[in-house]
Amino acid sequence: MIALHMKPITALLAAACLTAGTATAQTTQAFTVKANQLKTPIQKTMWGIFFEDINFGADGGIYAELVKNRSFEFDTPLMGWREQKQNADGSILIINRGDLSNPRFARFTIRSASGYGVSNEGFRGMGITGNDKYDFSLLARAQEGNTKLHIELVNAANQKIGETSITLSGKEWKKYTATITATSTEPKAKLNIWFEGAGVVDADMISLFPQKTWKNRPGGLRADLVQLLADMKPGFLRFPGGCIVEGRELDNRYQWKKTIGPVEQRELIVNRWNTEFRHKPAPDYYQSFGLGFYEYFLLSEDIGATPLPILNCGMACQFNTAEVVPTEELDQYIQDALDLIEFANGSADSKWGKVRAQMGHPAPFNLKLLGVGNEQWGEQYVERYKLFAKAIKEKYPAVQLISSVGPSPDGPQFDYLNPTMRALKADIIDEHYYKLPDWFLKNAKRYDAYDRNGPKIFAGEYAAQSKAVVSPDNINTWECALSEAAFMTGLERNADVVHLASYAPLFAHAEGWQWTPDLIWFNNLQSYGTPNYYVQKMYGTNKGTHVVPMTLNNETVTGQNGLYANAAIDSVAKEVIIKVVNTGATAQNSEITIDGVKKLATTATADVLKNADLQQANTFAQPTTVSPTQETIKLKGKKVPVTLAPYSFQVIKVKML
Ligand code: AHR
Repeated sequence: MIALHMKPITALLAAACLTAGTATAQTTQAFTVKANQLKTPIQKTMWGIFFEDINFGADGGIYAELVKNRSFEFDTPLMGWREQKQNADGSILIINRGDLSNPRFARFTIRSASGYGVSNEGFRGMGITGNDKYDFSLLARAQEGNTKLHIELVNAANQKIGETSITLSGKEWKKYTATITATSTEPKAKLNIWFEGAGVVDADMISLFPQKTWKNRPGGLRADLVQLLADMKPGFLRFPGGCIVEGRELDNRYQWKKTIGPVEQRELIVNRWNTEFRHKPAPDYYQSFGLGFYEYFLLSEDIGATPLPILNCGMACQFNTAEVVPTEELDQYIQDALDLIEFANGSADSKWGKVRAQMGHPAPFNLKLLGVGNEQWGEQYVERYKLFAKAIKEKYPAVQLISSVGPSPDGPQFDYLNPTMRALKADIIDEHYYKLPDWFLKNAKRYDAYDRNGPKIFAGEYAAQSKAVVSPDNINTWECALSEAAFMTGLERNADVVHLASYAPLFAHAEGWQWTPDLIWFNNLQSYGTPNYYVQKMYGTNKGTHVVPMTLNNETVTGQNGLYANAAIDSVAKEVIIKVVNTGATAQNSEITIDGVKKLATTATADVLKNADLQQANTFAQPTTVSPTQETIKLKGKKVPVTLAPYSFQVIKVKML
């Protein structure tokens, strides 16, 4: 019957709806919510964020530095830089001083009075906004002469859109700073530095930041991107990944101690995603660690999210080299984990707490969750996890550990690790699913049957894939987002088992991505949330404190007639919060009876996310095509009459009086 009313939709989602239901548009779906029967608390951490420096998420993304390869440490030391000679003579020499963290600097020998310079191309250009101010800085010394630097921003047509100057003096390294006010907006600007006067200049850490960063912090984060995160009201921030935790090989693993302290002392490494060419080659993808562990903790605090660092457990990415460190040499890795807990939570006079305090945060960051390994599998993982768990639990029993069950929610690796980690009494198990929309619909019941007394679940990485699993052709369609919304009703219903969940990956630069789909897309000047982003945001901002029963004909709502639903209450705001997904192509009438309350407000609000076209996505030109609108519903006593639009997700809120 329903098939007659359906517009053509993708076979998979259609199949799920068709097999599920026999409703007509005329039938009224009668839901019941028992608002006084608190089933389980919903953790504050429930809906969070997964951050990884993939797709230019950090360098070239949220980390607002505009100069690429500012310290000449890329494998090709002048990548991103270009000499400029206008009838002038000069040369560049890269000198390696052999110290560990930032060994290289550039020596410019200027043989003409003017016309010699160097330019930096930025990360696919530099996004510059007219009238905004930009902080230029460099470490430099004048080895010979008293050279003046003319610094300018130019647009794609090579016209000047801002300038400043600096005169160098003395043979000691000093930090020089100057401000540029941009005269116009340009997404693809370049930075030129012209040398006036012959001489020899040594330079390092050549940097340009917008003054308008998140909270206007110098050297900070891109404000528009952090705002999008803050707007989600995330319960946690998982960082720094993802596969970059592991590295292609152990040498390139993420080592948090190398990402703190003065930025000029943080050792740059190649990004593990540098060699992934799913979109376009990104040989210029490195990790400067300007966004390091201190900044991640600060970001978590800023956006009200519980920090959730993931540490390397002595294993490189098993999709790459799969190198492991011998267990007898694991101590250094375990020590890093213990020291991280002290860095985050220790008093300002403890060894690592002092480092945190010196960086500007004497108060602890209150770390409670820690991941041991990213997406590891096999016996090697179990061996290493056990050693980590023993050492950490001995010293910090209150810290909850996240453990891996591999890259898939099923299959041999999962089937081995899941019982193994449960037998080890793991605190929290991290499940990952990159699957087609149909999988998400079918798995809305996944956790209904999970052991209520076993480890808690972290749905640590998930995203519905529009074409195929991990394909460069995947896009953030409404179909994918809708299936995630349906699946998430099941996560919420099982909040006694599922304590954390996050979509992945988070960010993607439109000209520098390796993986799709992604939650938030950006270019040098703009950013937008995908339909999936709005689903996450609607869950994060309408979390509630407790799950309460919601039924359709006395059954939980897990796909009957293409409908998925769950209810919660917010015992502080005194609200009933109902989430309903209609995956079908026809509108359905419904009535939600709210039992167990003395009195309700006379109206409810409904935030509705819908689109008639399942293939619809948001774009830079039309960033909010799929975004929620708010409606008001008049109650009939304790009944909420709701029309469930075709292909819609809505959050209905009613005040309990
Ligand atoms: O989210 C992208 C990648 O998917 C992560 O880096 C990894 O953990 C998973 O395989």
